[in-house]
Amino acid sequence: MTSETLVLHALLDAGPDGFVSGEELAGRLGVSRVAVWQHLDRLRSAGFAIDGRRSRGYRLASPPTFLHPAVVDWHRRPAPGDPSIHFSDTVDSTNDEASRLLAAGETAPLVVLARRQERGRGRLGRAWHSAVEGNLYASFAFRPRVEPARMQTFTLWMGVNVCALVASFCRVAPGLKWPNDLLFSGRKAGGMLTEARLDADQIHDLVFGLGMNLRPPDEGWPAEIANRATALAEHTSAPLDPNKFAAALIHRVLAAYASFLAGAYRDEFADLWHRFDVLKGRALVLHQGEREIHGQALGIDDEGGLLLRLPDGRTDRFRAGEVSLSPPVSRP
Ligand code: BTN
Repeated sequence: MTSETLVLHALLDAGPDGFVSGEELAGRLGVSRVAVWQHLDRLRSAGFAIDGRRSRGYRLASPPTFLHPAVVDWHRRPAPGDPSIHFSDTVDSTNDEASRLLAAGETAPLVVLARRQERGRGRLGRAWHSAVEGNLYASFAFRPRVEPARMQTFTLWMGVNVCALVASFCRVAPGLKWPNDLLFSGRKAGGMLTEARLDADQIHDLVFGLGMNLRPPDEGWPAEIANRATALAEHTSAPLDPNKFAAALIHRVLAAYASFLAGAYRDEFADLWHRFDVLKGRALVLHQGEREIHGQALGIDDEGGLLLRLPDGRTDRFRAGEVSLSPPVSRP
């Protein structure tokens, strides 16, 4: 841990009303008071609001509202051996950064966080709006060595875990639209993108990326998504702490991965799927390129495929596609 991180953690430990004296900080770090001032200056330049009082010492005047890896770590309290965070202010795409780290031989699991992305990607080759600070762009890289058929359930399992986390954080239930859109009242607040390198027998490595809108952009949503997008802050009564949320997310995703590998997740998966599935029983259209399949959603099969009752009464399963909900069909 760097000296700056130690200073920051001491201020966070002291809480909003607590002061830490310069002498104490110097003692804890084993450095001079002048070195402590330099660390405090650097933390101020990084955006932390630090008060100094001659008789009492230093305190954080307000909790940081921007994502910072040392604050995320203060919330998550990683144990030795837990994955460290690869943090960037701006990156092309956290999924790409995670893939590069895997290719460079970094130990997995690993976590990539960024404040902004220049080329954030969504499913089906779409862009993911990531130019502004204040949202969460996270990727998790794994080397699971399981057969490729389990990939689809992996993505859905991660999706329901993210929903469960958001539900406990925001105290408002989100919905999951197969395969991986997190919705509030039909509007999208989060999207997930899983990318894998695999051969016929096994997955070599896999990156799970999550983009979560924490607060709406000050300048408003871009026109092309304005009628479809929302942010968690629009559904919570208290302001959302991005560092606390990121810490809880890292914890949840890593735990979900461990139970996925151990195979111990199936019962819980079914329960969570029923809790968050927004499609069940709904009439919808599944778009597969130019093809449009109309049907009624019946849930998912064991491999995570979408089950649809087709207009001729047959049930079929689908592995891929984009769902749009149809208005209810009026019957004579
Ligand atoms: C979708 O809904 O189409 C999926 C969106 C996934 C976006 C996230 S943001 C973090 C990670 N990095 C990316 O480039 N994409 C994913």
